[in-house]
Amino acid sequence: MHDRNGVDGGSDGDGRIAGGGKLDSGGKLVDGHSDSRRRSRSAGSEDGRRECGRSGGADSPGSAHRRTPRKLILDLDTGIDDALAIAYALASPEVDLIAVTGTYGNVTVERGLRNSLAVLDLLGADDVPVYAGIDHPLGSDSFEPSAGSRAIHGDDGLGGASIPESSRRPETQSAQDAILNAAATYGRDLLVVPTGALTTVAHVCCRCPEVMSGVGSITFMGGALTVPGNVNPCVEANISQDPQSADNLFHCAVPTTMVGLDVTHRTVLTRDATRAWRSLGTRAGRFFADMVDYYIGAYERSQPYLGGCGLHDPLAVAAAIDPTLISTIGLNLQVDLEGPFRGRTIADPELLREETTSTRVAVGVDGGRFVSTFVGRVGRLLGERC
Ligand code: BDR
Ligand code: CA
Repeated sequence: MHDRNGVDGGSDGDGRIAGGGKLDSGGKLVDGHSDSRRRSRSAGSEDGRRECGRSGGADSPGSAHRRTPRKLILDLDTGIDDALAIAYALASPEVDLIAVTGTYGNVTVERGLRNSLAVLDLLGADDVPVYAGIDHPLGSDSFEPSAGSRAIHGDDGLGGASIPESSRRPETQSAQDAILNAAATYGRDLLVVPTGALTTVAHVCCRCPEVMSGVGSITFMGGALTVPGNVNPCVEANISQDPQSADNLFHCAVPTTMVGLDVTHRTVLTRDATRAWRSLGTRAGRFFADMVDYYIGAYERSQPYLGGCGLHDPLAVAAAIDPTLISTIGLNLQVDLEGPFRGRTIADPELLREETTSTRVAVGVDGGRFVSTFVGRVGRLLGERC
């Protein structure tokens, strides 16, 4: 849990060096590596029977420098800005994307997994495994994307932009076991970034809080504390998908960082970027330009005052990598579960005087630094592809 409330620069920076390494296909820890896009990866290999074990304890004391990239798991409802989050992760040398797990929201889990595989393949990351997570909210047994989600991300989640289907399939292991296995193996060397419905991540955190408390950070995109929501005046889309799971996460004693609309609406991408991507002359550049032009068009209709599209999910990845991009306040959050404010993220009134807080809520962002880093890194990646 975090210390007293107060504005700070982020959620890690503890100076501990990571253990490095990855899991081989038999689940054994093997050597670390630096080239994140040329090695085969796996978030784990146990076949769905992991119990809560102790964290692998990747924090070797005594060094302030990380020599190996940290491991990253993205839990996505792949959607347009989720695809941008994949691109930013692959373009960032500080992290090794070891897995994408699939949640729902912009699209179903099944559609999101197909989208993730296709985007990873297009970006040359066809060795990154994807895992299916829980495909519906607590209290329901199914999920269908809302009309609002379809308007913003398109029926296929990728704005109808043309991309070859992947020939790969999701792994047979569940997302829940993949995340727990990686958390137990890598400990503080693992960053987890959920950017869709929180059902799967809340499930693993509540099931094994001691293991999940041992990861480097859980930095989720979702919520709105100081600004209006984007589903209604109080509620942000990711939290709206499964308010109960989000509330469970906030109350299960696992530290998190919230990157909500408070900051993501201050980081916008414009058509200058998509023009530049299209002019690269690569298939990846054209696909990302077409997809993001669709997204910007949706924003021009719904929130023209922003001047572009919100870089929601990529900002969560960037804040996990470099917490100095955001300033945060510590709060014990709750999610309203009933009534007209159902889905609202707000401080739990019963925990206001607690000295320890479980969530660092981003309320400030160095938007200029993030957007220019995003444009530079993603532009280079798209230019490298054929
Ligand atoms: C969030 O909701 C989804 O539409 C986006 O992908 C993002 O994760 C923004 O509220
Ligand atoms: Ca998302």
